[in-house]
Amino acid sequence: MAVEQTLSIIKPDGIQKNLIGEIVSRFENAGLEVVAARMMHLSKEQAQEFYVVHKERPFFDDLIKYMTSGPVFVQALQGDDAVARNREIMGATDPSDADPGTIRADHAASIEENVVHGSDAAETAAVEIAFFFADNGVCPRTR
Ligand code: CDP
Ligand code: MG
Repeated sequence: MAVEQTLSIIKPDGIQKNLIGEIVSRFENAGLEVVAARMMHLSKEQAQEFYVVHKERPFFDDLIKYMTSGPVFVQALQGDDAVARNREIMGATDPSDADPGTIRADHAASIEENVVHGSDAAETAAVEIAFFFADNGVCPRTR
């Protein structure tokens, strides 16, 4: 198993439901370590850039409206197989397909308002972490 870093976002619906601690606890209990965190309200331009891979998809405009509808909580997580581990903890994109006990099964309202984002591969994780935590924004765990 390789130690990896991945990007997590608690989306505006997760913040509205006051789930920051609940979600961070799941990551910590699974052995993932928070190495960067910030709360922010994404601009339309930031959301469009972050989700540029989806810009031709029919749900893109609604996704941008959703992601800019309130603040988000962005974290870099570190641990063994962090990218896949985070995706397991999150559950499938559509909560009706998500395994029981995952964040999305427990808390997501729909395929759109699904509480969390997680990077889908180590390469995208590096790009996404740099997007939010450039300039030494990630803190190495020195103990
Ligand atoms: O977030 P995840 O990687 O699981 O899914 P994605 O396919 O990368 O889609 C990004 C986000 O777009 C999802 O998490 C949903 O918020 C939204 N989406 C949507 O609104 N309708 C869809 N049919 C698919 C995705
Ligand atoms: Mg994705």
